[in-house]
Amino acid sequence: MNEKVAVVTGANSGIGKITSKALLDEGFRVVMICRNPEKAEAAKKEITEDTGNDRADILICDLSDQDQVKETAAEIKKKYKRLDRLVNNAGFLPNGKRQETQDGIELTFAVNHLAYFLLTKELMSLLEKTESSRVINVASEAHRYGEFAPDNIQLENGYSASKAYGNSKLFNMMFTHQLNKELKDKDINTYSLHPGVVNTNFAVESNSLFAKFFNLARLFMMSPEKGAQTSIYLCTEPGIEKHSGKYFSKEKPAKPSRRAATNDQKCKKLWEISEELVG
Ligand SMILES: NC(=O)c1ccc[n+]([C@@H]2O[C@H](COP(=O)([O-])OP(=O)(O)OC[C@H]3O[C@@H](n4cnc5c(N)ncnc54)[C@H](OP(=O)(O)O)[C@@H]3O)[C@@H](O)[C@H]2O)c1
Repeated sequence: MNEKVAVVTGANSGIGKITSKALLDEGFRVVMICRNPEKAEAAKKEITEDTGNDRADILICDLSDQDQVKETAAEIKKKYKRLDRLVNNAGFLPNGKRQETQDGIELTFAVNHLAYFLLTKELMSLLEKTESSRVINVASEAHRYGEFAPDNIQLENGYSASKAYGNSKLFNMMFTHQLNKELKDKDINTYSLHPGVVNTNFAVESNSLFAKFFNLARLFMMSPEKGAQTSIYLCTEPGIEKHSGKYFSKEKPAKPSRRAATNDQKCKKLWEISEELVG
């Protein structure tokens, strides 16, 4: 089949839903990775009706569970012969109290970083088979509140929701930087991005102080349609290969706020820690 295939995580809501819709409009088959079947079906119905295009498929996966991520990747490799775009988009703002997944990993680190890492790793053979494929990692300017501390990467000490979130978004950028190095001789490019401050479901369910401030500012935020523009740009714009590994904002390469985002040694160390944690 010559039909291009895109996988979008967190495709039922906010930036992921609008990105999926735009990719359907561009003629992609879109594999929507969502954790809630009802929300997934509702979003699929909406974007199918809006685009008049029924090329959206759903795969149910809770990205906090490494076994589910592996099973989902296996299902994708079985069902599809190519993978043109992988959009690691699903992410959340945690609660004020530290939580761990069934794998014993701090929840924000697991969903916002390790799932990006693991899904990409598991889908690498399919990305490699596909000409000019791309991995797009949705990060955030909130990475400016993050730091890379290898000995406290899961915030056993000094946890707060803003630290956990800021760290995870810094790790999205560090992962992109190192992934680009790992892909040196391959026809795969990768980018990270800040979508803007966007009025989605983000932070709605968090009881953290960060969420209280974020939710107060909703009136002044951009729409999901606007917030998805840089993700869509990185999926569809030709000729951006020379920027592989970089961080984008407003559809342009942007300077990371933290040096760790492009520090070769630190990015490699994060890669090694992640490899160990996904087994
Ligand atoms: N909104 C902003 O201002 C902003 C700014 C900078 C960066 N970002 C980033 O943009 C990305 C998309 O966020 P959004 O603003 O579009 O928020 P959103 O509307 O809340 O969408 C987040 C998506 O991620 C999914 N998700 C969360 N945890 C998951 C899990 N364990 N397994 C599977 N799916 C999971 C959610 O599923 P459910 O619907 O089932 O919860 C939802 O589909 C995130 O990575 C976020 O960090 C957002």
